[in-house]
Amino acid sequence: MHADNWASKAKKMGYRSRAVFKLEEILNKVVLNNKLKNVLDIGSAPGGWSQYIIKRYKKARVYAVDVLEMDPIEGVNFFQESVENINNIDEINKLKGKFNLVISDIAPNLSGISTIDNENIFELNQLTAKVAKDYLVNNGILIMKTFQNNMLKILRKEMELSFKLVQTYKPAASKKQSGEIYLFGVK
Ligand SMILES: C[S@@+](CC[C@H](N)C(=O)[O-])C[C@H]1O[C@@H](n2cnc3c(N)ncnc32)[C@H](O)[C@@H]1O
Repeated sequence: MHADNWASKAKKMGYRSRAVFKLEEILNKVVLNNKLKNVLDIGSAPGGWSQYIIKRYKKARVYAVDVLEMDPIEGVNFFQESVENINNIDEINKLKGKFNLVISDIAPNLSGISTIDNENIFELNQLTAKVAKDYLVNNGILIMKTFQNNMLKILRKEMELSFKLVQTYKPAASKKQSGEIYLFGVK
């Protein structure tokens, strides 16, 4: 399906972003316990992924973090903060080791200079993987967006040190030319 069609499908379904269909595809491949309780959404704005989780997993409680503002969603606790300061958010910090799922669609502002952009993405992904390791329960799952560049192999290798299973997914809903790819890890 063309990107515009994903966007209009998302709009019709009341989702704030077409990114929900990428998350849906990945979640459909992963055997996830429907008793999913705590979900951490990193880089959550405008809120499509948070909306999707709440709709699909009725009992889930979502904690969402973004540097940008996000309009409220019932069942979602949103904190306008950088992931770098996540340990300072008391409500999230007290759930350390109790999250069943961490999802990250985080994307830094791009400068257009590929070496700088790749380095920024790499550092944000490294940090996100560390946060996921600290906040997930054993066997908890991380789904994290990254980009196909010269740092991907290193990122994946690093993840393999702290996650027992690591895989990559390129959902059909993700534009081929975008270079984005999703890492999936089981703690
Ligand atoms: C592609 S958007 C996320 C879309 C979202 N998954 C959805 O479905 O609506 C990426 C987000 O990452 C956020 N972001 C970038 N750097 C961040 C940081 N250091 N901490 C938290 N969020 C960040 C951006 O502000 C942006 O809202």
